[in-house]
Amino acid sequence: MAKPTLTAVRGMNDIFPPETIAWQQLEQSFRSVLSRYGCAEIRLPIVEQSALFARAIGDVTDIVQKEMYTFADRNGDSLTLRPEGTAGVVRALIEHGGLRGQTPRLYYLGPMFRHERPQRGRYRQFHQLGVEFFGIASASADAEIIALSARLLAAAGIPAQLQLNSLGTPESRASYREILLQYLRPQAEKLCGDCQERLERNPLRVLDCKVESCQLVAKDAPQLLQHLDPESAAHFSLLQELLQGMGIAYVINPRLVRGLDYYHRTVFEWVAEGLGSQGTVLAGGRYDGLVEQLGGPETPAIGFALGMERILALRALAQLAEADAVPALFLGALDDAALTAVFRQAEGLRANGLSVVVAGPGSVKSLLKQAQRSAARYQVLVGAADLAAGDVLLKEQEGQGEWRGPWDELHRGLTALGVDFT
Ligand code: HAM
Repeated sequence: MAKPTLTAVRGMNDIFPPETIAWQQLEQSFRSVLSRYGCAEIRLPIVEQSALFARAIGDVTDIVQKEMYTFADRNGDSLTLRPEGTAGVVRALIEHGGLRGQTPRLYYLGPMFRHERPQRGRYRQFHQLGVEFFGIASASADAEIIALSARLLAAAGIPAQLQLNSLGTPESRASYREILLQYLRPQAEKLCGDCQERLERNPLRVLDCKVESCQLVAKDAPQLLQHLDPESAAHFSLLQELLQGMGIAYVINPRLVRGLDYYHRTVFEWVAEGLGSQGTVLAGGRYDGLVEQLGGPETPAIGFALGMERILALRALAQLAEADAVPALFLGALDDAALTAVFRQAEGLRANGLSVVVAGPGSVKSLLKQAQRSAARYQVLVGAADLAAGDVLLKEQEGQGEWRGPWDELHRGLTALGVDFT
């Protein structure tokens, strides 16, 4: 076959069944965990004004400088496909007064867009489940949201390591920045091109650069944790106490700095093995200044987002989904006269929770072929003559199970062969 000329955009994936079934199952189990933590869903536009992201994520970040899908719409307004969800949630809460005297706990699920170099686990359109807690300054919110993140990963069956750090306040970070620059400047030529370029703009990013020569330099760099203000230090130690109390294991990674500028104090990532350099399956942190920075009331906040593609890549996808993708019953009509009866039967069974596929009218040979392709567990082929005679034959496709009986009592036959209608 010739290669199609119209293809999906690079880094943006089509998702077919049975993979879609695995997505739905995962989303469902995540929603059930989220409701146990009092979180409710918010749905937001995928497109926002470009200025929102520049202000929220930070002008000097890679996301804003290099990765956004930004375009002028027909009015000439600069719009951007959202590269993440936090900025939009904050914008919406401020716009609709959702923070007045309230402490919302919100989650969102949907596509995000970043023009990164695609590779396994890194795409240009990817999907996040994000959670944001507003209004609680205490480290108790940090501990609770981390416990929630641990439970989500457990629900997905993903073993991962929790890495923690504190970035302090903007003030303590600014004085640390000078200390770090004094250490990095004399070694600038050892850094990768990207880090040399961002050294003066955003020296903290050098600390978590994945390039080996940068890691060698970062290894002996002065640590931000040694330069925290006393309040941030107390906040960080309360968080650790609470995590230990819940039995949640973590490692402190003093070089964890995150790629978005809005973080204050706690930052964290869950890192799994098996995806190479794209092993961060979930990441987040506290962003106490952001609501005010975007024009809202002073509001502490903390959140995270997990990457759906990364989580799903770590699960044995197809196997898991197969069982649910397969219908229970194939109903084939041998002639026009039987088709109405087949449709009525199928609707009745579906109303009782059974998954049914209908086909016909067609010959025995063609219906048997279709039944086999559907992989349904059971099949019935029925024509006007069988309906007139009263009895039909229900057969297991793979096994030996059979039931012969009245068409109107097919549900009884299915029960006899082991279908559970409850
Ligand atoms: P982030 O670290 O940029 O944080 O993204 C969170 C997660 O989204 C990553 O850990 C990864 O699993 C997934 N992810 C990011 N980029 C890609 C990509 N190109 N392809 C596939 N998966 C990707 C944020 O977005 C923050 N808004 C999280 C947050 C919420 N902080 C506070 N509240």
